[in-house]
Amino acid sequence: VVLVLDFGGQYNQLIARRVREAHVYSEMISYKTSIEDIKARQPKGIIFSGGPASVNQPNAPKVNPEIYNLGIPILGICYGMQLMALQLGGTVERPVASEYGKAMLTVDKANELWAGLGGERPCWMSHGDSIKSLPEGFEIAAHTGHTPIAAMMDSARHFYGVQFHPEVKHTPDGQKMLEQFLFDVCHCAGDWTMESFIELQVAEIRAKVGKGRVLCALSGGVDSSVAAALVHKAVGDQLTCVFVDHGFMRKNEAEQVRKVFTEQFQLNLVFVDARERFMAKLEGVSEPEVKRKTIGNEFIRVFEVEAAKLGQVDFLVQGTLYPDIVESGTETAETIKSHHNVGGLPEDMQFKLVEPLRMLFKDEVRELGTELGMSEEIVWRQPFPGPGLAIRILGEVTREKLDILREADAIIIEEIRRSGLYRDLWQSFAVLPSIKSVGVMGDGRTYEYPIILRAVTSEDAMTADWARLPYDLLHNISSRVVNEVRGVNRVVYDITSKPPGTIEWE
Ligand code: XMP
Repeated sequence: VVLVLDFGGQYNQLIARRVREAHVYSEMISYKTSIEDIKARQPKGIIFSGGPASVNQPNAPKVNPEIYNLGIPILGICYGMQLMALQLGGTVERPVASEYGKAMLTVDKANELWAGLGGERPCWMSHGDSIKSLPEGFEIAAHTGHTPIAAMMDSARHFYGVQFHPEVKHTPDGQKMLEQFLFDVCHCAGDWTMESFIELQVAEIRAKVGKGRVLCALSGGVDSSVAAALVHKAVGDQLTCVFVDHGFMRKNEAEQVRKVFTEQFQLNLVFVDARERFMAKLEGVSEPEVKRKTIGNEFIRVFEVEAAKLGQVDFLVQGTLYPDIVESGTETAETIKSHHNVGGLPEDMQFKLVEPLRMLFKDEVRELGTELGMSEEIVWRQPFPGPGLAIRILGEVTREKLDILREADAIIIEEIRRSGLYRDLWQSFAVLPSIKSVGVMGDGRTYEYPIILRAVTSEDAMTADWARLPYDLLHNISSRVVNEVRGVNRVVYDITSKPPGTIEWE
């Protein structure tokens, strides 16, 4: 393993990921982790991440200096480099000009970290402080126009520091530099794969859970599905999954969840058909936030009843991903939508958490799911909101509207899949407004619902752009939806990005 010590920088999440891309297992851990714990992990190398603080601030995060006596190679990035410099006897100052963005890096001294990387090359800078004087034993490895010490090294002790960010794509040779650190300095084997990740996690889950009972709220989405399959592989029948069918799933989805988890994975699945309960609760509710809260609260109630039936449960599986952990650290200013109320679990439940995906990014989770034998359909499923179709029916939810929406949505997904664009889109789906318009079909007048087609591209749902779908595809969707779904006489396409729109309509 190569450990990344986290000092809170913006790009830190990328470092561990880049290392794993080089087939070396890597985890990010807090800079406060004790030396004993670090030693116990037997890392082949340690990377100090960047961070927002200035090393000269009184409360700046610092690592126990014992770390420099472990004989383990260390690479410091940005803040990490400055911290290393300061702790080993150098000095750091705030120069007049900071350096942000692209800079040209000149490599002064070739060595194992820079083999084949001599001369000038672009790199990505983002720092206020700079190193003024080097600690003993170090020499300058590279400089830029503004930063005389843009990289430093002590080849004898295998300590390296770079002021720029090798983990971001704007440093084109960054991955190569990281790999040279991993392979030529740390002598990592580079044979880590998803298969070995599974082995490691299975062992870890078993050690953590022991003979305890484990519960998982399965939503049918990628994350909870993959987490459940992985935990099941580790502890088998000690795991029980609860799936609450609130009636707002996409076409065939609930049935598919039942099939995959009972037939393919053969795990204990409590399948709760709560469709009637949820419909009853939503009667007369049309305000989006009230809808969300109503569904969220009902979900918790149903889940609690089922959990209570199981008796003593010790652990709860959550499909938390790495970006969730990172994001939960920041406070968002305003609640635009109460997203996380649904599928959110009761706060007073006393469980220990099992979060086997907490180190992974979405695409890694997909790779893991595939490795565990999950079908393409589950592993590549587009995100789906917890309250499901209920927030895609604008206004009050009725059975009639649900049926219309579900059929239209299924056609859209089918056509998008057929066109080969499904994976390229963040989401593509149907929305049903509570208005009707006049049309003509055959020789008769119609007065029916329109379907709104929404398709967006996005990296993380924070921002999104409407997808430039081909006209032929739009045509196929429109004609099939109008012809095949009774109650619909029009299809319109939403051409709003986020912001100012949101992805969903409620
Ligand atoms: P918006 O509509 O805010 O959505 O652009 C951003 C992403 O979040 C999903 N979403 C939800 N997910 N419960 C959820 O679990 C919700 O209430 C909810 N509302 C929106 C949405 O599908 C998109 O991916």
